[in-house]
Order: sequence, then structure tokens, then C-alpha cells
Amino acid sequence: MRKWTLLYPMLMALSFGLFAGEPSPIETILAEMSLEQKIGQMTQLNITTVVRDDIAGNYGEMTEYVLDTNKIINFVENWHIGSFLNGRAVTPQNWVYVTGMIQSINAEYSEIPILYGIDHVHGASYLKNGTIFPHNMNIGCSFDTLHAFNAATTTIAETAHLGHNWVFGPVLGIGKAKTWGRFYETYSEDTYLTSQMGVATVRGLQNESASTPYKVAACAKHFLGYSDPKSGWDRSPAEIPDQILREFFLPPFKAAIDAGAATIMINSGEINGIPVHASYEILTELLREELGFKGIALTDWLDVKALETMHFVAENEKEATFQAIMAGVDMSMVPLDTSFSIYLRELVEEGRIPISRIDQSVRRILTVKHDLGLFETYMPTREKIEQINTPEKIDLALNAARESMVLIKNEKALLPLKDKKILLTGFTHDSKVALCGGWTFRFAADSDRWFPEDMLTIKDAFVQEFGEKNLIFKGGKSLKRAARKADVIVIATGEAEAYAETGGSIDDLSLDSGQLALIREAIATGKPVVLILTEGRPRLIPDVYDEVESVLFAGLPGVYGAQAIAEIVSGKVNPSGKMAFTYPKKSGHMISYNHKQSEYSIIRQVSDELKRHSIANFGHGLSYSNFSYSNLKMDTKIGGKGDTLSISVDVSNNSDRAGKEAVLWFISDEFASITRPVKELVYFEKQAIQAHETVSFQFDLVPERDLSFPDKLGKQILEDGSFMLEVGNLRQMFQLNQETMN
Ligand code: BGC
Repeated sequence: MRKWTLLYPMLMALSFGLFAGEPSPIETILAEMSLEQKIGQMTQLNITTVVRDDIAGNYGEMTEYVLDTNKIINFVENWHIGSFLNGRAVTPQNWVYVTGMIQSINAEYSEIPILYGIDHVHGASYLKNGTIFPHNMNIGCSFDTLHAFNAATTTIAETAHLGHNWVFGPVLGIGKAKTWGRFYETYSEDTYLTSQMGVATVRGLQNESASTPYKVAACAKHFLGYSDPKSGWDRSPAEIPDQILREFFLPPFKAAIDAGAATIMINSGEINGIPVHASYEILTELLREELGFKGIALTDWLDVKALETMHFVAENEKEATFQAIMAGVDMSMVPLDTSFSIYLRELVEEGRIPISRIDQSVRRILTVKHDLGLFETYMPTREKIEQINTPEKIDLALNAARESMVLIKNEKALLPLKDKKILLTGFTHDSKVALCGGWTFRFAADSDRWFPEDMLTIKDAFVQEFGEKNLIFKGGKSLKRAARKADVIVIATGEAEAYAETGGSIDDLSLDSGQLALIREAIATGKPVVLILTEGRPRLIPDVYDEVESVLFAGLPGVYGAQAIAEIVSGKVNPSGKMAFTYPKKSGHMISYNHKQSEYSIIRQVSDELKRHSIANFGHGLSYSNFSYSNLKMDTKIGGKGDTLSISVDVSNNSDRAGKEAVLWFISDEFASITRPVKELVYFEKQAIQAHETVSFQFDLVPERDLSFPDKLGKQILEDGSFMLEVGNLRQMFQLNQETMN
């Protein structure tokens, strides 16, 4: 046992800016640490490693943790473990017991507190009765960063005091592969929107003014290029050219790092033949030297071992450990044993890994622990338990759900439904799981039994919103029979089961045949049909799409999602979401809105062709209000450096209904030395617009920021010439001429 008795005063002094000219206290601690202690700081274990055997043996059914103190003592005394992770939705009291027990036993043996990392990825998802927000895919569709911020601040308000000082989010991959089982964890197929949502989440999680006992570290994941596996399956290889990687995949991480993200998690997959966990180029040259990241680079689950067992680039685990550490890994999410510690120690003792490399990682880990304030306070507290799931927090999650749904189609203004007899049916109409998806209360909940009893399904919410007498349920009857007295058929359809990671790998994006058959039956009745799509990725509905009247993309709106759906269908809430990704129509040509010109070889500039291949393009979303755009004002000539171009547009609400409109500003570059997307989002803003009101929206275009693009080495290029600005249905050409700049 070894303690650093001077540690606390030294760290306090550091906080008060003392020690000018002297080695920093973190260096002093480092100098006193043994190799084993250093390696322990670089090791992260799963919570199951310290759970009592009988609990661990039946972990699937576990509802409350019971820890084995001897196991904890072993890990902190003999292995000096510096971090634990993971969990299930247990009570706040149980969390206080878990993290408190780990921290207090650790404190007997070490003065370096524990980092506890957890996947609260859409609200407090691993907390019983935690407030669950919509998944990121929905948050993206809200086009309002406030919802990302609210989800993050709610998460830390509910869980930081429970000992959760590290949240494994935001997910910053761009949503490219639509079959991918983690598509719903991404904010958007667009880089700018993803970056903005990511920054808001980092700011919310690491909120300086939050009244938490210590700060919380965010974890931008998964660095880099995870979200576009070529086959669409989780953790399968990506082939992404450097220029594309830099232009589309890198900026959200750069933005999160610039916003202060304390940690990153590494992509489990490979890019261009190199597993990212073994890539010095990505983890050191790019992440450290170029992006200037100073925090902790954490592996993903089992990923050091995966260099041997999944990627086969290392002959054995020791070699895998060597590769990962020399590439730039700081901490290994081992997570089930201590083999990493053994191999890393051998590698240092054999002189293959220099101690300076170990010190570099431990320094980063201690610095994060210090910056969170953990050296001053690390114990959880029960004091704020009553702050969980308060009406104010539920309202934030409900509002996020309301604004995150997209009315894709609404022929003859069928919605909102007024004074109609509604037949409500569909595979997901009475399911809680279907509204929340994976990472909700459990990794992938196998049934509704893990969800709050008072959570509403769509069926419950319709009863609440429309009254039982206005609803018909199919029961055992045929749809045709059940629909006889109905004015309209509402079908909730999509993905009925929760999935996460590899469990979400599919080989057909089509909606399954049973659900399609039900929709066809409904169409055959001749009654108008409304589809409510509850799903974590765009399941294909090619032929039926053209024949139904209305389609509401509800995505994975979370625990309060059913109420939001019912309110949109009834008209109590005016829909304001817009697609944050392109919803494909068919499986053969799945591309993003910001595709290259040659995707459709004869079409010039902004392509309408995509409309034939998608049921909803990026940015599409209907409202019950009627908005129009006019009076686009801008200079048509600009210089370069330092110049900004102030642009404005008026948006009028020509209806009797107040609503919200997200105004999306796009740029197209006419000619360029590297092929350009047909258009790119450069700015967005959402505002409420009252009935018959006109609101002016502003955008300051900055050429270096908005018109430049990287080459494959990352050098930003700004090229003169013609550009087109697009906002709403308005377009305006303008010229960039850097010769005339100031
Ligand atoms: C996932 C990560 C997650 C980690 C810890 C991994 O399998 O890829 O996103 O944070 O598990 O649960």
C-alpha cells in the first residue's frame, strides 16, 4: 500500500496557481508512482468484475448491484485500477452504494480517485426512472442545439452526484451507413449539424456552472470513421479516402475538442486496412499533433485484444498491447480481466515501451481527474436524488421529442386528425421498447418490463389524447372488418425490438414483410392511411409510401415520445422537425443529400434527382403552418480574408397557426479543384413564428469557414469563383474574388 500524503495540499495549491517555476504537483505525483500504479491508471474494468458471484451469474435479470468488497480490494490494492465502467438502470440509491463503495475502498489504498464511465447517451439511460430524451438521430432532426444541451445538462443533473463522473458521449460519427445498427446514435448525415449538436452536448455535459459535486468529463466517440462501415455492419471495415475523412468525418471531433471535450473513445473498426486502435497516424499524428487534443484517449470495449482476435494484426495479446500503446492509447477498456496490465508491465520492463510513453498517458489521466475536481471531492451523495425525473426535466425531454419528429408527407392536409374515428394498429403501436431503442435502461432491452410502468405507449397516448370512444383497435379482427367504422387508419410501424452495436446488424433495410402486408391491407380498405415510423434507421417502404396519405417519422423519441406523437397527430403540437438525413426510397442508390455532382451525371448543381430516390431529402419537413421565404438580401461580390457577408431572408407564416421553422442555409461551389458536394449546410437556426408574422433570419457568411475545404493533407483551400447560396426555395449566385480583399 502506498499513499501520497502530500497529494491533496499539492493539488489544492495547483488549483490556486501556486508552484510557479516548480514542477507541477501532477509531475511530483508521477515521480512517486510505481510502474504498477501507473499501469493501473491506464486500466479500466467493467462493473461486472466487482459484482458478487451470484449476481454476476444471473446478470441478465439483475435489477440491483451487490458488490463483492474482496474483489474491489483486489483490483485497487494489487492492480491499482483507476477506472470502472458501465451499468444498468438501477435505483439512484443503488448507484450511490456502487460508486461510493468503489471510491471509498479505493481511497484506502490510493489518493487518486476513480473515474466512473457510463453510457448515458440520451439522457440518464442507465438510471431507474432517469429522464430519457430522444436518441441523437431525433435530436438532429430538431435542428435546435438547445435540445442536445438540455439532454446533456439533464443527464449530469441526474447522475453526476451518483458518482458518474464520465459520460461516454456524444457520438460524433456522421450517419452514413443506413443499415448500421448504430445509425440512431448519430445526429445527422451532415457534418456541420453533427458538429453543432456535438459541441452543445460537450458544453452541457462539462457545464462549468452545473451544481454537481465535481465536474463530468464528456467522451467524443468513436474516433474516427466508425459510422460508415462498407458492409453496413457494426465494427466492419471502412474505406474512407483521406480527403473525405478530413472534410466530412473529422470536423465534428475537431469541434468537440476545441469545445474542450476531456476524452475521446476510439473506433473499434479499421479504416483503409489499419485498425484505428493500432494507428499512430490517427491516434498520435492526427489527434495529438494536429488537433492538439490533450485529454484521455480511451479504447472501446475489448479493443486492445481485438487487434489479435478480430483484426489479426497482432500475433498475441502482448503484441496487441504494444501496438495500441505505441499508437497512442491512454486507457484500455480491458474490460474483464487484468491481462492488459500484465503485458504492459512486461513490455516496459523489457524496454520495448519507454516509461516516458507511460508517463505521457498517466499525466493525461491525472490531469483529467484533477480538472474534474475529483481530488477535492469524489464521493457520491444521496442529497440530490429528488432532482431526478422532476416535471421540469420531463418537460425538457417531452419538448425535445415534440420538435424531433418529421412530418414527411401529408396529402390533402389529412393531419391533424379532428373529429375522426381512428383505427389504431401496427406492430409498434403498443410497445415501449419501440419508442426508445437500444441504450435505454439496458444495452438492448428484451421487453417492456424494463421500462417505467407509467410510460405511455402510442396506444395509451392516443387514448389520452383522443378518448377511447374515438378509437378503434383491431383486436382479433381482420383489418378490413375493424376498419369498417373508421374514418382513418393510423399504423405505427418500424422496428419493434431494441438493438445495439453488432446486435443491430441487418442484411435488408426493407421493412419486414409482415408489417408491409399490414400496410397494404390498410391501403386496400380505401380509407386514408397515416404511417407513424418508430425506428432507429430508415426502413424502406418503397411502394406503400406513394399510396398512404400521411407519414410521420417519429424515430426513437424516448420515454415521452408517445405523447408527442399523439399531440402531433391531434394537432395540439405543430410539427417542426426536418430530416437530419436522407430517407431512401429504394435500396439501390442510397446517398446523402451532399452527394457529388456525378452521382447524377447530367444534372447540374442542386439535384432534384435525389427526390426520386428518397422519400424525404435532408432538410425536408412539413408543418401545419405555411411558411414562405422572401427578400433574400446579400452582396453578390465578396473578397476573402477577414471579409464577412451579411445575408438575411424573411420567413413569413401565412397561416393562422403559430409554428417553428428551422431555416437551413446551403452553399454550392460551381467549379473546384476537388469535386464538391452539390450543396452543403453551412448554418441553421430555428425560431418560433407567430400566425401571419414575418421574421427576418440572418447569416454572416465567412469565406474561410464556409467556402473552403480541405485537401487530403488537411490544408484548407479557398478558391475564387461562383457560389450559390440556397435558403428555402430561394437561390442567389455570388462571386468570391480574393484579389479584391482587404
Ligand atoms: C461501445 C461504446 C460504449 C462501450 C461501453 C462499446 O461496445 O462501442 O460506444 O461506450 O461499449 O459500454
